Amino acid sequence: MHDESLHLESRCVHGGQRPDPSTGAVMPPIYTSSTFVQESPGVHKGFEYSRSHNVTRFAFERCIANLESSTLTEEDDRTAGGFAFASGLAAIATCLELVDSGATILCMDDVYGGTNRLLQRVRARSQGLKIVLADLSNPEELAKAAAQHRPAMIWAETPTNPTLKIVDLGEVARIGAGVGALTVVDNTFASPILQRPLESGIDIVMHSVTKYIGGHSDVVGGCLVTRRADLAQKLRFMQNAIGSVMGPFDAYLTLRGAKTLGLRMARHCESAMTIASWLTKHPAVERVVYPGLPSHPHHALASRQMRLNGSPAYGGMITISLCGGIVKTRRFLERVQIFALAESLGGVESLIEHPAIMTHASVPDAERKALGITDSLVRLSIGIESAQDLVNDLDQALSGQ
Ligand SMILES: Cc1ncc(COP(=O)(O)O)c(C=O)c1O
Repeated sequence: MHDESLHLESRCVHGGQRPDPSTGAVMPPIYTSSTFVQESPGVHKGFEYSRSHNVTRFAFERCIANLESSTLTEEDDRTAGGFAFASGLAAIATCLELVDSGATILCMDDVYGGTNRLLQRVRARSQGLKIVLADLSNPEELAKAAAQHRPAMIWAETPTNPTLKIVDLGEVARIGAGVGALTVVDNTFASPILQRPLESGIDIVMHSVTKYIGGHSDVVGGCLVTRRADLAQKLRFMQNAIGSVMGPFDAYLTLRGAKTLGLRMARHCESAMTIASWLTKHPAVERVVYPGLPSHPHHALASRQMRLNGSPAYGGMITISLCGGIVKTRRFLERVQIFALAESLGGVESLIEHPAIMTHASVPDAERKALGITDSLVRLSIGIESAQDLVNDLDQALSGQ
């Protein structure tokens, strides 16, 4: 079904999907076979070996290609420009193979800690990459760094993890094209429901599908999507050559999760707005960072760029700074009952975490301080429980400080 004209909620359910041709099964079966029989050497039904071709993985890849508005067809690329990997980091690692050794990568200064670690502590050594960090949410800094360093790739994330800065997707695409850089956006925090970077001219979009797309904290996976046929060809080769593919069970679970992505995102956004507004009034909270609050420095850009059915929607992530230091912050995190103190985000259940000790521990101290990832900083992933219950939980945990 070619269904770009459908609304995103419908594309979550139907995008790139069709009944299984052999049985009519509405959901694709989990094809576990590692290999496929051939009638004669090289004569087969289009499936040779499961690293290269897997029906269940292909179904999810076509789904995410559709959700991210790839305009490729299945004639251009087997799954219309969608590629699934064993984790978000496996997707990032494969994407980095698009540049040659010694290349310069211009990267957003505030990115997921694991992205920072892969770039600075692995690929700087093994691939000789030169990593330039800059605040890409500042268009002048982005333009200056691009002109000065002539990067082969610009890596952006928006909203960023964990300080929720907003990067202008159109500016990244424009400036990247101007210096001949490939542009890649990690769209994990917004999900394709709120923003589709390819529509703004970005070359490749990346997700940790472990988060909103899977949505149930029961699968680890990643993906890349492009609408450029030349890049799709290279990524297909890399995905097979490197081999860090998503397995069929995970592809099935992720596809199942994606069906409700539209519904879930609407709820995450609505509850996060309610909770962020409530937190701004709490005396134990020094600062609330949420793109939906007028106090957010990039609120106007977020309102233009992040939209759900034509209206602004700002996602389910909130970052707060508590009054007091690590002792009070630790006590608060130990007292929550509905929120689970755990890494990750984007699931149906609300999660809370301490970036400096947990998700961003791998970011060097000095960089963490410069970014404002302090001992009092707490990141919340708002789930789909009752917003009132979540407010009550935060209230009781804050009052015990
Ligand atoms: C924004 C972002 N990108 C990438 C990743 C890495 O994904 P994974 O944990 O699936 O490897 C994460 C994980 O937390 C993330 O939050």
